[in-house]
Amino acid sequence: NNDGTKTGTHEEFLNIAHRGASGHAPEHTIASYDKAVEMDSDYLELDVQITADNELVVFHDDEIDRTTNGEGEIGDHTLEELKELDAGSWFNQKYPQQSEDSHEYLEVLTLEEVFDEYGQDENYYIETKSPTINEGMEKPLVNTVEEYDLNDNVIIQSFSPESLKEIHNLNDDIPLVQLLSYEVNKETGKTKESNDITPNPENMTTEDFENIREYAIGIGPNFIDDETEVFNKDFVQKTLNHNLLIHPYTINEKEDMERLIDWGVTGIFTDYPNRLNTALEND
Ligand code: G3P
Ligand code: CA
Repeated sequence: NNDGTKTGTHEEFLNIAHRGASGHAPEHTIASYDKAVEMDSDYLELDVQITADNELVVFHDDEIDRTTNGEGEIGDHTLEELKELDAGSWFNQKYPQQSEDSHEYLEVLTLEEVFDEYGQDENYYIETKSPTINEGMEKPLVNTVEEYDLNDNVIIQSFSPESLKEIHNLNDDIPLVQLLSYEVNKETGKTKESNDITPNPENMTTEDFENIREYAIGIGPNFIDDETEVFNKDFVQKTLNHNLLIHPYTINEKEDMERLIDWGVTGIFTDYPNRLNTALEND
């Protein structure tokens, strides 16, 4: 850019399909991943968890109630039990305008099934979801990535620095992204981190950035667009100046996409990869 704005150390902007193209089809099903591929996203975002019988599955919530016809904790169910569930019909009921018969009775998928389906043709942005609940998922995850020869097709992300550091120790070729989360107190306008383990983007020090740089290639903060303007161009530029990529989540509105692209973010998580590609074309 000729206005002095940095755009990051990697060459390409990443269009990351959040839980697949989950604005168009039920999240984390073959329909949402197929849509993401069709819409030419760069990475399929996968939340990974462990079943009661130690299988890695792609699933976002800790409980299965919202996105299946089952109930209870995902980790209390075996893969066989999860496979009997309908992980698609909820979407048709919630979003009648996007409803399609093909969404009905879609299955919960294992990580291996996703890799079998798309192999090295696609890239995977994998989150170790709730590592304190899904204890011990790091080693089987790294083993699976290695077995499928997908080191170059994978980025692993987590809110947990411990989980990422464990992966870094197991295989330091796999690029890692530290997720961050902050909240805004509407009454005071003050921000605070959503957990005790990662810093609040507003107060991030050089040391915080450098600590993350020890094991990760970038950060993935949530984007809150409000009067606090914690997430602003300065924050983006500060991150890039520390040689870290910055991939905010989850951006679904065209105007927000355009603004963030302008500020220099190096990728975006979105439920609508088609909208993001349009915003990039117009840039
Ligand atoms: O992984 C980035 C973003 O997906 C984190 O939030 O809750 O959608 O997994 P969540
Ligand atoms: Ca995620």
